[in-house]
Amino acid sequence: MNHWPDLLMATVRLDQKSRAIVRSISDSFIHALANYFGSGPTDIELARKQHQAYSDALSQNGVAVTTLDADQNHPDCVFVEDQAVVIDGHVLLPVPGHESRRGEQPPIADFLAEHLKGYQICKMEPPAMMDGGDILRLGNLFFVGRSTRTNDAGISELRDLLTHLGHELRVLDIPSHALHLTSVASTPTDNIILAPEGYLTPESFGEMPEGCEIIMMPEEEVYGCNTIGLPGNKVIIPQGYPTVQKTLEEKGLDCIILDMSQIREADGSLTCCSIFY
Ligand code: GLY
Repeated sequence: MNHWPDLLMATVRLDQKSRAIVRSISDSFIHALANYFGSGPTDIELARKQHQAYSDALSQNGVAVTTLDADQNHPDCVFVEDQAVVIDGHVLLPVPGHESRRGEQPPIADFLAEHLKGYQICKMEPPAMMDGGDILRLGNLFFVGRSTRTNDAGISELRDLLTHLGHELRVLDIPSHALHLTSVASTPTDNIILAPEGYLTPESFGEMPEGCEIIMMPEEEVYGCNTIGLPGNKVIIPQGYPTVQKTLEEKGLDCIILDMSQIREADGSLTCCSIFY
């Protein structure tokens, strides 16, 4: 990986969410990897409608969305979150953990290099591997999932970057019945982590910073634990998770509810479909 410059670039936080990349659904989407939440998408037209509604929800809530073309050779290309992570003036380009997905990265890397001039590009090299979907940020505290897609060498490279940036990294072991950390947890606000029973425990996150809390959801609402918090007390949540909805509404959040059924069939969650930068 590149060495970090001594001078930090302007801070760009994931939770600012002013701009996002999304990527259209490939004609080959029915062949997307599906081993956890889904058994494979069956209706590409519906998937595209759901994806459009997702993109519209971001746009209508103040996010400037750029849509990259689909790559017909990569059924999972809609899941851009795994391919790049923007952290405080740095673009981390991981080695995606599933070999079939490594070819999705170049157009995303090119876009970010062109639009984030002056940012430091940090390119991981094998044997390190990591999916962006294993990284969760809560202010200056980062969590990474050790999973089938993210190994210790990848975690070590992420730690080097975050240490350089003055951030703390904590590692959680992702159970074998889950794909990524963000498949089972999210930050609907800057001080809440939502996580499901049966997958993670509050203890696995360690002690929370002052004013932050972990809210556990019932195991059957695991998919609902992946949310996108937006400015203005808004949060996007998937349709069909009443405890998640009620809990977030009781916290004063305005829930934007999206049908993600076909995306879920490909093991994709809300955050999987965007990179905020
Ligand atoms: N289908 C998303 C993934 O397995 O990476």
